Order: sequence, then structure tokens, then C-alpha cells
Amino acid sequence: MRKTQNFKWDGLSLGTCYYPEHWDKKLWREDLRRMKENGIFTIRIAEFAWSKLEPREGEFTFEFFDSFLDLAEEEGMKVIFGTPTATPPVWLTEKYPEVLNCRLDGTPFRHGMRRHYNYNSPVYRKLCSVIVEKAAEHYGQRPCIVGWQIDNEINCEVDVFYSESDTAAFREFLKGKYGTLDALNEAWGTVFWNQTYTEWEEIYVPRPTVHDSTNPHQVLDYTRFISASAVQFCKMQSDIIRKYKKPQDFITTNGMFGNLDNHEMMDECLDVYTYDSYPNFAYCLCEDPKHSDDLNDRKWSRNLSEVRSVCPHFGIMEQQSGANGWNTRMEAPAPKPGQMMLWTMQSIAHGADYVSFFRWRTAVIGTEIYWHGILDYDNRDNRKLSEVHRIWKRIQAVNEMAGAEYQAAFGLVRDYDNIWDSQLDVWHMRLAKKSEKEIFTASQISHTPMDMVYLLEDTDAEELMKYPVLIYPHPLILTEKRTEVLEQYVKAGGCLILGCRTGQKDENGRCVMLPMPGLLSSLAQTDVKEFTFIGPADDAVFMDWQGKQVETGLFNDILATTGPDVRILAKYSSNYYEGRPALAETVCGKGKVLHFGGTFTRENVKEFLAYTGVLSPYQELVEVPEACEIAMRVKDGKKYLFVLNYDKEPQKIVLKEAVMDMDTKDEVQGNVLLKGYETKVYRIF
Ligand code: GAL
Repeated sequence: MRKTQNFKWDGLSLGTCYYPEHWDKKLWREDLRRMKENGIFTIRIAEFAWSKLEPREGEFTFEFFDSFLDLAEEEGMKVIFGTPTATPPVWLTEKYPEVLNCRLDGTPFRHGMRRHYNYNSPVYRKLCSVIVEKAAEHYGQRPCIVGWQIDNEINCEVDVFYSESDTAAFREFLKGKYGTLDALNEAWGTVFWNQTYTEWEEIYVPRPTVHDSTNPHQVLDYTRFISASAVQFCKMQSDIIRKYKKPQDFITTNGMFGNLDNHEMMDECLDVYTYDSYPNFAYCLCEDPKHSDDLNDRKWSRNLSEVRSVCPHFGIMEQQSGANGWNTRMEAPAPKPGQMMLWTMQSIAHGADYVSFFRWRTAVIGTEIYWHGILDYDNRDNRKLSEVHRIWKRIQAVNEMAGAEYQAAFGLVRDYDNIWDSQLDVWHMRLAKKSEKEIFTASQISHTPMDMVYLLEDTDAEELMKYPVLIYPHPLILTEKRTEVLEQYVKAGGCLILGCRTGQKDENGRCVMLPMPGLLSSLAQTDVKEFTFIGPADDAVFMDWQGKQVETGLFNDILATTGPDVRILAKYSSNYYEGRPALAETVCGKGKVLHFGGTFTRENVKEFLAYTGVLSPYQELVEVPEACEIAMRVKDGKKYLFVLNYDKEPQKIVLKEAVMDMDTKDEVQGNVLLKGYETKVYRIF
């Protein structure tokens, strides 16, 4: 059983990201007062300001932030203090170039951007531990400080590391994992193409190769190593901060990024997790927002579900409050009137109890001059500030639901081995990416709220039992441990849905010489006799399920049954395997397994959800068009229904029962018209 988070906010609150070092001191007090007038009572500061604390090696200057924190205390502003390690100063990288991260070919990233360091340089670790210790020791007891943010967006910008320190640390990681080179050679299948290692010093992090393609088993371990390095780096900082912080103050970092086991980072280092939510990316010039099957900004609900799996009651450290843009890239328009409210309510609907806008005022200098904040360069009041003011009123109206639990009707199962394997394996990626997108889309448009459920080292069947249905779309990699937990879940009454390619590989990413679904064969009582992609020249393939023609997606495993408790629910109705089993159901204990030979589409997911009895759980309560998302949060037996209209056009919903509108406290029933981008929160009586 996973441990629960150490820290929760006790109500809904707003914050913003503020950079005292970017502004004339004369603006500070007025800025804080304007924030408070508009409902912002917490700020995050200092996460890039190393030079303000240590302008030269070993020379520490605390006056700058002391004077700012004095003011914050006078104004009653709460502060989240960031450690500045995402941007090492120039003196540091000039004197110790070995701290720099490198490209695949070993060329170092030079000064000028951020996150140009590597986690494994002993010098960088030492210098970071010193700056973190100095900052925590000096500011730790400050009354205005309520929390600490470690670094900034760990693994953002770049999540691969190729410096010499990384190679040295990778060798140590591998020695710890395998003990002997024989074991490593076996796990990595190095006999293939003459990769057999005879000395640890022959092993490197990935380097340029023909097609830049290298041993996949090695890269899988390398990805695990990057994640472990990032977690260690974060832990090094949180251990130091814990020595100096006040007991009630939290430690967090803002995510979430790839090649990183965010769950492990949370459990090992943090008290609460925060996420940076920028749904406006959906409208960047490089995207195609008109793409007909795309959920655009609503897709961020998927990220939020993932954040919720890391930390059920999370915060948003950076919530979109303006147009996107660096001076070099990522251009997107200003949020339309109502969208800041919509995106804030999207975060709250998914479990955020703290929402902090990025940033108070748009930078007038540097790379981010087009990444707009609440205020623009001219510093006048504007419509975005008025929208923040309305958001403040709003969160007061709905505050009683703070800390409520999100209610999911089913779970989409993931695990880091398969996520990382799919990054290397194009077959795996194609299936996983599409199926997960389609499952999420089906959940959204059918109003069947879902959770992301990660199978972690300490996940047990009891935790899974809160989901009547779990879809584990394509677990190519199965481990004994995960198989056992899934078996217990099914025997205890759960319904497990598996897609094609289940059980193809072991945890090194090697294919197992067993019939699929590999380790799950005895539970599923199925066998995969043959399989194929549906190529571009093929027609879509369908299965006949209860008289309906249901599409079977991008890839088809052709199934057979192997045991007494399994029955065929559907057969392929086209292609050369017409008439052969596509979907099998096996009863086991109190539960069952549905083994599906295909990949998931939004249409077939709806069929699965209907068949397993979890589709559209709130249809007796509310009728909602596809353009709106619904979420249900529950606390102390009270239920709170969120309805979010992502469309610019009004949308009609029908409340089939009398409920309380949390904004007006009126009892409402029947037709309600939500304006474009409007959101509603109802308490169910
Ligand atoms: C985030 C980052 C912020 C800021 C923002 C806009 O990723 O944490 O510091 O850079 O993006 O670019």
C-alpha cells in the first residue's frame, strides 16, 4: 500500500509566481498589495535567483531576499521559496564546465538557457547542496515561508543526459543492479551484434550510432538510471531542507516531465506535488487545434488525472494566465475571456486545492517576453486581473469542497517499465499512444470519469479494488509481482481488461519465449496464435460483438482459449482471420478478465465500459453534451458535480434532479444553458 501524502491544503487558495529580482524594488509593495486585493495571498519566489544568493563562489548574500521577505511579512503574504538549482550561475559553469549536460555526441550545452546542468556531476551536487543548505538555514524559520519548491520542473527542457559524469554514474548504477558483467550481458542480450562487455569502463550512456539506434535493453536501463538520478538529486535537496524548515512547511516540486518516476520522487522526497498547467499549448501555432478528434485544452484533464495519481490532493504551481511564447518559440494566443476561469476550474475539478498563476507580470527582459502573465508590461489593471478577481470570488463560493476525493468510474493502468519501453519500441509506442488517447477521449465524451492507476513497487490489490474496472491496454512488459497483484484484484472481484501484445516481454524488454499473454496466460486462459498490424493498405477490421460490428483498431492478436473458465465474446468479422476469436472473457474467483486482441478506439472503449456496467455513471443525474466535461468530487458524504464547457458556444445541460448551484446557492433543476467557457459546480442534495 502506498503511503499517503504528508501535506494537504485546508481550503482553496490562489497564488502567483513572482520574481523580485526582475523588478525595481519600488514596485514590490504595490505588487503585493494588488495581489491581495485580487485574492492572491501566496507567491513563489527565488527559483532561478542563485546569483542573488551567491554572486561569487562561497560568497553568500542574503540581504536581497531578506528585504523582500521583510516586506512580505509586513504585507501578510505567504511565500513558497524555490531552490535556484535549475539555473547555475555563470561563474559556476565557467569554473566547472563538467557540471554541464551534453548532447548525445558529448558536446556540452553552454550558458544562456536553463537546466543546462547534469544531476550526476559530484561538483554540481556539492555546490547545490551548499546553496540549498545556506538558503534553508538562513530563511527556514521565516514566518512568511509556507513551503519550499525544489529546483524547477525537474526533467523539463531536456530529459536525457550525456555528460562524462553521467557515464561514470551509469556504470555504478549498473554495478549495483547486476553485480557482474555476465549478468548485464545476459540482461542486455549483448551477444546480438557483438556488444559483449568485458570491462565496466566499456559501458557508456548512449552515444551516436548509425541511425542513433542502440541496444534497447541498455536504453531501458539508461532511462531508469536518469529517473533514479533525478530522484536522488531531488532527495539530496529535500533532506537538507527538512533539517531547517518549520515542521508545518511543505516541500514540493513542480512537474510533470518524462524519464522520471514522479511517484517515487513524490514518495521519497516531497510532501505534496504541484503541476504546471498550460492548456493553451493546445492552441500553439505548431498544433492543429481544428483537428476533428482532438480535445484541445481539455486534454490537460488527462495530465491532471496523472498528477492526481502521483498525489491525490495536489497544487498547481503555474496555471496559465496569458498568451504563450518565448522570443523563439511556442506562440499561442491570449486566453479568451473565461478561459482562465475554465482552466482553473479544470484543475480544481481534478483535485487541485491550490492554484498559482504564472506569472504576476509579463517579463520585460529575457527569453520569456511573450510568455504573458496576469499583468502586461504596462502594469495597468486589465481583464485578466479582473478574471483572477472573479476566480477568487468563485473559489470562496465552492470552498467547502476543498480536499474532496475525485470519483473515477474506472482506471487506466500504467507502469513505468511499459511507458519507458514504449519510448524505444515503435510498435509498442504506436499502440500505447493511440489506445491511451482513445480511452481518455472515450471517458471524456461519454462522461465516464477515469483515474490513471500506476502499478508501483508497493501497489497492492486492496488499492486497486476501488475500481470495478481496470483497463491495462498493452502491458508488453509483465513482471511476476505485477501479475500477482492483478490476479489478486481479479479474484477479489475486479474486472481487468487487457489489449493486444500483453505479456510479450520481460522487465529487460526482452521478448519471452512463451505464448502471449505470457505471465497472464493462466489467469486469462487464452493464447495468442497469430498477430498482425493493420497496415495502411488494409481495411479496418471489426469484431462481431453481441451482434454489433466493433472496430478492433491498429493491431490484432488472434486469440484461442486454453481453459475451462473462458468463453469467446467476439470474433473477428473480416481480414484473413475472420471467424477467429477477438475477445475472450474468463471468470476467476469473484472477478473476470476480458482479453481483447485489438487496440482501443473511442467507440470500442464505450462498448467495454457499457459491457462492464460503468459507462456514464451520472446519466440519471445530468444530461451533458459531448463538449462539456463532468467531474464528481466527494467529501464527508457530500457530492460536488463540476460541469466544464470547453466550447466557445453555449451548451445546454439538463439537471434531472434538484441540486444546489454553489455560486448562487439556489436550488436548480431542468435545463441550464452554460455560456461559452462557462463552468458550474453543483452540490448534490
Ligand atoms: C514553465 C516554467 C516557468 C516558465 C513557464 C513559461 O515551464 O516552470 O519558469 O518558464 O514555463 O515558459
